[in-house]
Amino acid sequence: MELVIDRLTKQYENKIAVDCISIHLTKGVYGILGANGAGKTTLMRMLSGILKPTSGEIKFNTFDVSHECYREVLGYLPQHFGYYPEFNAMEFLCYIGSLKGLTKGSAKVKAKELLETVGLSQVAKTKIKNFSGGMKQRLGIAQALINNPKILILDEPTSGLDPKERIRFRNLISSLGKERIILLSTHIVSDIEYIANTILVMKDGQIIQQGSVKDVIQTIENKVWECQVNDGIASQLISSYPVVNMRQEEEQVVLRIISDKEPYTMASNVQATLEDLYMYYFSEVGENA
Ligand SMILES: Nc1ncnc2c1ncn2[C@@H]1O[C@H](COP(=O)(O)OP(=O)(O)O)[C@@H](O)[C@H]1O
Ligand SMILES: [Mg+2]
Repeated sequence: MELVIDRLTKQYENKIAVDCISIHLTKGVYGILGANGAGKTTLMRMLSGILKPTSGEIKFNTFDVSHECYREVLGYLPQHFGYYPEFNAMEFLCYIGSLKGLTKGSAKVKAKELLETVGLSQVAKTKIKNFSGGMKQRLGIAQALINNPKILILDEPTSGLDPKERIRFRNLISSLGKERIILLSTHIVSDIEYIANTILVMKDGQIIQQGSVKDVIQTIENKVWECQVNDGIASQLISSYPVVNMRQEEEQVVLRIISDKEPYTMASNVQATLEDLYMYYFSEVGENA
């Protein structure tokens, strides 16, 4: 099983949203990490076959995404998903099932099972207009799974989920990733830190880093610093460097700083995390000031 993205490009008028991306995806969980505007949604819409690339191609095994067969193996949760407010959860899933070509009977069985999986069995008969944001999002994940897809594309699937729902979601994705290609986008580091086999860091339409959490973190080794300073020096440092974290310690401030070079004589290197990496690539200096 292989999804091959070859020199994929999307240009809107004068904006290149996806810029000549080539990647090979096999079984496992891929987390696309990028700030707003990086091109995540554009990339995912092309992978779902609903947006035509300007150039380049996408092939699953040997057939193109526009091929009928692709629809059958694809599950997709758009970033802004349109629900039918007057449907209840069960009706909605059965409806999506019928669109995907399931028989009435098998759609019903599958819908029941998925409501269980995402923790919505209790509200199967509740109209969607009465759902919270997190409940809608869980229903969105369930609808993407109804045809037991081999490729699962989830665009910001955890937006609106509370911490408990996030953990549940992560566990679900980990278990689904064993037999599938799962691609999920987020700007929340912790959503993918524990479950993505591969992190794809996306910036300005390009994949600028790719690898395991350990691999990508290695690229910013020796760029994360901590130092304990007084308030005056702290505010100078904050206006000059991205600061990931600050905490008050008695009369002083402990800063965690991202910098290629030593930001301050008393600063010492500390172990980098994925959150540091995000700050390294996406923060604007002085935005915490
Ligand atoms: N339909 C469109 N027409 C013009 N520009 C667009 C359109 N959709 C997205 N863009 C632009 O393309 C870039 C990437 O957007 P998007 O793929 O939504 O990024 P992300 O999902 O990472 O936030 C942004 O600069 C956005 O403004
Ligand atoms: Mg988006």
